[in-house]
Amino acid sequence: MAFAFAAAIGAKAQTEVTAPQNVYARQTTLLNGEWNYFVDLQEQGYYDYRMNPTRWGYFINAKMKNPSDLVEYDFDASPTLHVPGDWNTQSEELFLYEGTIWMKRDFDYEPRAGRRALLYFGAVNYEAIVYVNGKKAGRHVGGFTPFCYDVTDLVKGGKNFVIVKIDNKRHKDNVPTLIFDWWNYGGITRDVLLVDVPETYVEDYWLGLDKEVTGKKRILNFSLKLNKPVADQEVTLSIPELKIKQRFTTNAEGEIANCQLSVVSSKLQLWCPETPKLYDVELEMGNEVIKDEIGFRTIETRGKQLLLNGKPIFLKGVCSHEETAYTSRRCNCAEDADTLLSWARSLGCNFIRLAHYPHNEHAVREAERQGFLLWSEIPVYWTISWQNEETYANAERQLKDMIRRDHNRAAIIIWSLANETPHSDARDKFLGRLATTARSQDNTRLISMAMEVTGASNYVNRLQDNMNQYVDVVSFNQYIGWYRDVNDAPKMKWEIPYEKPVIISEFGGGAKAGYHGDKGQRWTEEFQENLYRENLAMLEKIEGLAGTCPWVLKDFRSPRRPLPGIQDGFNRKGLFSDQGKRKKAFYVLRDWYKSK
Ligand code: GCU
Repeated sequence: MAFAFAAAIGAKAQTEVTAPQNVYARQTTLLNGEWNYFVDLQEQGYYDYRMNPTRWGYFINAKMKNPSDLVEYDFDASPTLHVPGDWNTQSEELFLYEGTIWMKRDFDYEPRAGRRALLYFGAVNYEAIVYVNGKKAGRHVGGFTPFCYDVTDLVKGGKNFVIVKIDNKRHKDNVPTLIFDWWNYGGITRDVLLVDVPETYVEDYWLGLDKEVTGKKRILNFSLKLNKPVADQEVTLSIPELKIKQRFTTNAEGEIANCQLSVVSSKLQLWCPETPKLYDVELEMGNEVIKDEIGFRTIETRGKQLLLNGKPIFLKGVCSHEETAYTSRRCNCAEDADTLLSWARSLGCNFIRLAHYPHNEHAVREAERQGFLLWSEIPVYWTISWQNEETYANAERQLKDMIRRDHNRAAIIIWSLANETPHSDARDKFLGRLATTARSQDNTRLISMAMEVTGASNYVNRLQDNMNQYVDVVSFNQYIGWYRDVNDAPKMKWEIPYEKPVIISEFGGGAKAGYHGDKGQRWTEEFQENLYRENLAMLEKIEGLAGTCPWVLKDFRSPRRPLPGIQDGFNRKGLFSDQGKRKKAFYVLRDWYKSK
């Protein structure tokens, strides 16, 4: 199993390092909490009046020393925002704000010999420029993946401060691009950690079940990478429940590559939705012990079948944004996830499409603990700048970071490269490169993307997409009954000329919870209910249908949904309202999943 080590990641600035695998199992200090902030509409804390980057920016955290000193900002006298958290739902004046905000937090640090200090961000939307004690640690773009800096040479004993310039302005060459159907939550949206590691530490490791079944034995594949090429480092891998305790030694590159551990099949309980078995795993190197919980399962396709642990499975799915129930803000902890997962559970789901960007690690691990299979996606959404090499590097970086953070999560079975992207040679080339990269990073999971079928001729819907050659599962969005062909679902036929499993990655329609009327009346629960009935009956006829993922678990905020009295800034295609009210369509889908 090729374990493409991270050597190839885009150019790293100053002190940027690869975010350590399973960072929460390291020695960490949480830098969450109240951070001082202020808005910088014209970015004068970064540029001088000639629009050149200034050395005297807000990142130096200047303080008046003499009565005549001119300092026109003061973090410590400024209000605070809670981290992790988006700024939009923490302050009314910031609800619609897209631009730059500066945030600061003080922290204490005690340097110790032979130790390094890493500053880890779970995610910051969108661009983050990070400074420690006035010195630049680095710049990161992309709002949904972790990044990390080695700040050992920037911190000092005693009081320190970290300042982040955050800018969530949308740009056409960004990923995602200018327009997207979700709220552009800005801020330090996930945990911030100060990670204390030895000079040489375990940067990444990989542990998974091999597809091969040899007699009564199964093989676990194990690989590991240190943060630097140090040979002869001893690492002990223990899986107590499987009576595995094995010592390995790193090679000249500081790696343990493609080692195989044999387990008696009957002793190994495989991870699956019914029994999401996670094994306690320990990695010991010197005084460091990294504990993890890992499930063992295989996922593969055979013709149009999807096989989990070698057995056919139907994905009873739903799509979900990373937005909390009831309060509609960015989720950032296991509790936030648990509420949404309980709603998906009540629908009878065994699968969740995490739309349209990697969700936080707490949510992924909570879903795994609860036995949900997951689809994880990067925000290559609609029409991005296919010919822009920087846009490609950004998308590829997000892909690699998504895979690296979660490649030991048994729950994740599908990496999705994109959503509803328009056909063109440039697009095909861009997505083809991403697909090749994804496979080189992880050849144990399935690759897909949300294609789309936007029209039928004579009631025949044909899926035609050049990207079919790169994906293991052909997935597409279709909105019969809502954006097109209302009440024509019963007449529809489907042509999907690919010998691969089919997932309907989106379908559905809107309804305002509590609004009732005739099934022909849009926005009523009856209209949505009928649309689901007709769609499910239609989809049932698709040969090779291996899963469905209706759009969407709950109503969510979107700047593209202004209709007063109905949408009021929410996409209303939820099966649940944002306040957790089950709409009539909920019962249609739940009963259908029960029948599956
Ligand atoms: C699209 C898109 C979603 C969007 C949905 C809708 O297919 O992928 O992000 O919210 O349709 O229009 O409601």
